[in-house]
Amino acid sequence: MAEPRSIAIVGGGLMGAGIAQVFIAAGHPVTVFEPAAQARHSVRERVAADLRLLNRDEALADAVVTTSDLAQAVAQADFVTEAGPEKLDLKQSIFAQLVALSPPTAILASNTSVIPIHRIAAGLPTGERILGTHWWNPPALIPLVEVVQTAQTSAQSVRWVMELLTSVGKSPAHIAKDVPGFVANRLQHALWREAIAMVAEGVCDAATLDACVKNSFGLRLAVLGPLENADLVGLDLTLDIHRTIIPELNRDSGPNPLLEERVAAGELGFKSGVGFRTWSPQEMDDLRRRLRAQRQGPPE
Ligand SMILES: NC(=O)c1ccc[n+]([C@@H]2O[C@H](COP(=O)([O-])OP(=O)(O)OC[C@H]3O[C@@H](n4cnc5c(N)ncnc54)[C@H](O)[C@@H]3O)[C@@H](O)[C@H]2O)c1
Repeated sequence: MAEPRSIAIVGGGLMGAGIAQVFIAAGHPVTVFEPAAQARHSVRERVAADLRLLNRDEALADAVVTTSDLAQAVAQADFVTEAGPEKLDLKQSIFAQLVALSPPTAILASNTSVIPIHRIAAGLPTGERILGTHWWNPPALIPLVEVVQTAQTSAQSVRWVMELLTSVGKSPAHIAKDVPGFVANRLQHALWREAIAMVAEGVCDAATLDACVKNSFGLRLAVLGPLENADLVGLDLTLDIHRTIIPELNRDSGPNPLLEERVAAGELGFKSGVGFRTWSPQEMDDLRRRLRAQRQGPPE
């Protein structure tokens, strides 16, 4: 793979700064376009914070170029990652500008969480160079990037991006079909749908449900994927279990009414101190601390 001349990141919020850190730490020139002055001015400090977290030289962050001029950000870019707000019409408008302003060979990626990439690229003439790269927060620590191929994306574009992401230390996964939510978020939210439905039906309370996950299959998920697990226990046993349980699983086609009610009541979770459970400031801090410690792994 040829060295990228320049990487542009469009949107310097939480994810944009995190993605910038990964590329700058790997020695690639990075320019971040961010329209909001406050976010733009804090990009380098947030990149430096990630570098400190990784025990890397935080001075590397000084090399990140920030700008409020989209044309300047992408004019020399070989690879553009869009990490703007999760709104389809906004992403469509950003991509239309990227096609007009970036070099005709640049590969254009969206970091959308769940929007199918072909909807963002609809009507654009350069579909073979457009794909999804779905990073996970925080990009500094989470290995997976889902590389989402649409019906138009060329195999060459996919290969180039997979190689680039591997070279910067990530674990890219090629997602061959552009379905909403891609793979990992679909799986995650299939689990959340069933979890919310069980609490709504009074099977158990939210704390008990979380404990059931954390003290059982949650412990082994990092080393045993669901299909490895099925192979391990045997597909015959899996089939017997599915004959009983699959007809019983929640199949609502929209969000659970319990979730809608909580949101309408302003019960948003940590943001308001009440969600599926009530959280004291101390409990929220403790949970955040446990999560940070788990992400960083045990001390060496
Ligand atoms: N937060 C997560 O955990 C996470 C994980 C994976 C993917 N994502 C996706 O990444 C994208 C960014 O999410 P985030 O959490 O960084 O959001 P964010 O709100 O922190 O950042 C978005 C940034 O885009 C900027 N922006 C606004 N209008 C813009 C425009 N026209 N062009 C470019 N930038 C613009 C905003 O000023 C803001 O700084 C979303 O699509 C989100 O769904 C988020």
